[in-house]
Amino acid sequence: MTPESGTINRRVLLGRENIANRIAELGQEISIDYKGKKPLFVGVLKGSFVFMADLLREIDQEVGAQVDFMAVSSYGRGTESSRQPKIEHDLSVPINSRHVLVVEDIVDTGYSFKTLLSILSSRGPASLKTCVLLSKPSRREVDVPIDYRGFEIPNKWVEGFGLDTDEDFRGLKDVMYRELPSEG
Ligand code: IMP
Ligand code: MG
Repeated sequence: MTPESGTINRRVLLGRENIANRIAELGQEISIDYKGKKPLFVGVLKGSFVFMADLLREIDQEVGAQVDFMAVSSYGRGTESSRQPKIEHDLSVPINSRHVLVVEDIVDTGYSFKTLLSILSSRGPASLKTCVLLSKPSRREVDVPIDYRGFEIPNKWVEGFGLDTDEDFRGLKDVMYRELPSEG
């Protein structure tokens, strides 16, 4: 497959305005819950960086939110879960006694997210909650707690708004999916 976006027929699953409105709502909710707590938002690389940037700018300044990132490998090439996630890049600050909010682009089977949460929880944060832009409940194989959720989506492979296929298409402004010839 070559990443020539002009030759791919895509449909919008979630448009940019819809996403922006939902992120603003999440930001308000999180701002109320974390007021004055100086939480650490932990973005899961790479997919969450677009969501993180937009979410952070919807958080009230009195919250005192700080940001760090962590990378966990879950998928290699293609779209099948390897089911053996591993930490590729760790946080740059200790999180013991911090209020940690994990910011993730999408939860699919839940394996990588579950592993990440157990690693973070073993470090003794004051609290550990999760904020996930997209959830595919029909794909879930392990239970993971989602405290703030943007959207539930059907079982479709999505691209854009930070999400990739083999590292391509992260810059699409909407959450999109491929139109199969039989659907067109
Ligand atoms: P899980 O361990 O199956 O929950 O894997 C979640 C990870 O797989 C996410 O953080 C994404 O990086 C990736 N992923 C799952 N579904 C999609 C998708 O539809 N598009 C792009 N990446 C996805
Ligand atoms: Mg991810």
